[in-house]
Amino acid sequence: MSNRGRVFGFSELAGIDVVKWPRFLPANFEKPNTRPLMQTGPGHYDDAVFTNLASRIGSPAAVNHSSLVSPLDRRLFLRQLSAGALGLIGVSACHNAALAADESRLLVHSKAPMNAEPLLPELVKSWVTPVESFFIRSHGNTPQVNADSYRLTVEGLVDAPLSLSLTDLGRFEPHGVTATLTCAGNRRSEHSRLKPVKGVQWREGAIGNAKWRGVRLSDLLKKAGLRESAKHVWFEGLDAVEDGGKTFAFGGSIPLEKALLDRDAVPGALLATAMNDQPLTADHGFPVRMVVPGYIGARSVKWLSKIVVSDRPSPNHFIADVYKLVDEGTLLEVAETGPIYRMPLNSAICTPTAGAALKPGRVEVTGYALPPGVPGVSIRKVEVSADSGRSWTEAKLTSTASEFCWQLWSVEISVNSATKELIVRAIDSRGDAQPEAVRWNAKGYLFNAWHHVPVN
Ligand code: MTE
Repeated sequence: MSNRGRVFGFSELAGIDVVKWPRFLPANFEKPNTRPLMQTGPGHYDDAVFTNLASRIGSPAAVNHSSLVSPLDRRLFLRQLSAGALGLIGVSACHNAALAADESRLLVHSKAPMNAEPLLPELVKSWVTPVESFFIRSHGNTPQVNADSYRLTVEGLVDAPLSLSLTDLGRFEPHGVTATLTCAGNRRSEHSRLKPVKGVQWREGAIGNAKWRGVRLSDLLKKAGLRESAKHVWFEGLDAVEDGGKTFAFGGSIPLEKALLDRDAVPGALLATAMNDQPLTADHGFPVRMVVPGYIGARSVKWLSKIVVSDRPSPNHFIADVYKLVDEGTLLEVAETGPIYRMPLNSAICTPTAGAALKPGRVEVTGYALPPGVPGVSIRKVEVSADSGRSWTEAKLTSTASEFCWQLWSVEISVNSATKELIVRAIDSRGDAQPEAVRWNAKGYLFNAWHHVPVN
């Protein structure tokens, strides 16, 4: 019997292996543990189940990646690659094996394509999100790329088209950036309560902050030589997405100005080969993905295979037709509407979780706040209300402030028997506040209204 669309009870969840296990492991790999695994069908989830699971799973110590593998510096990167890239494959396979056990921490919305998000209390344990707690958003298959034969091409409005192996990429100067990636559909399940929309019903966990390392897009473009008419940079992945009876690769593009906007150690766009000092995992785009700080996740194309410099935005479905803010989504409206690029100001409460039983008195509330993807704009303050917005208490920003990165926050707030919900809102350094409510849109993108968490 198919489990699609079912809401699982807790006891069923405890024993179920819903993600194909092991997805990346050699046949003789021993399964390290069996943790409860969550799955939701499209549009289905159950707050009580979710809360139960969160408390049952508990709070295991976050994996310290730096203690597992030393940072991928330029020397290491080149050394791995000079061994015919086999070193990189080996490291990646091991790393995937180590991570697979922890995939059980993710709330799996669908397995094929793989779409999963972490439990909110896990998410705010550290400013840098461990890879195993990082959301996965894929529209098609998860390619298993052979690092040996991998090539990346740079073509279009350039003087000298490039075809690069991983070894060639390793010869560019390495750069790193910490940046938050968030899906434009983050919090869609809340948006669907206004009026249902199709698509993965993300809760508030389609977001994560990682340390990325790789090569600046601007360096590649300089090497290829830009023609004067160049205005946009297209990206294409190696995956196969099926939509409307057609099969095509996921793609997108960014304006050339963004590609060249390397400011204060924050690259406009990075071709990342490492995430949190480890080679990328297959789910996150091994061997090379784009990371476009400040832009919605859809522009950070995974399993990158092709870069095209053009005088117009990419015609790829994921920028020409979707990832647009439209009311009804008629063909005319879609044609007349530009693509979404920047991520919006947002915030969410991560603890306590929905349905929590709070004793009257002081309660610690924690969560994240995301600045908008506007250069130079940061989070000014975060406020929490326990009385339906009549009064607000300012939270303490507990983590680093860094361009295009989320900030974690916490606050102690008084609750009583009349407290029915907790609410959070963020205000950015320009004085712009998260809206109390947002206008409904046909695809459920960019939901950034005040976050309400019902409590008992
Ligand atoms: N790149 C490819 N090739 N295929 C995809 O489906 N999904 C995009 C982007 N890059 C996608 C992709 C979307 S919508 C998001 S939000 C991010 O990848 C998610 O990245 P993650 O899975 O590493 O969290």
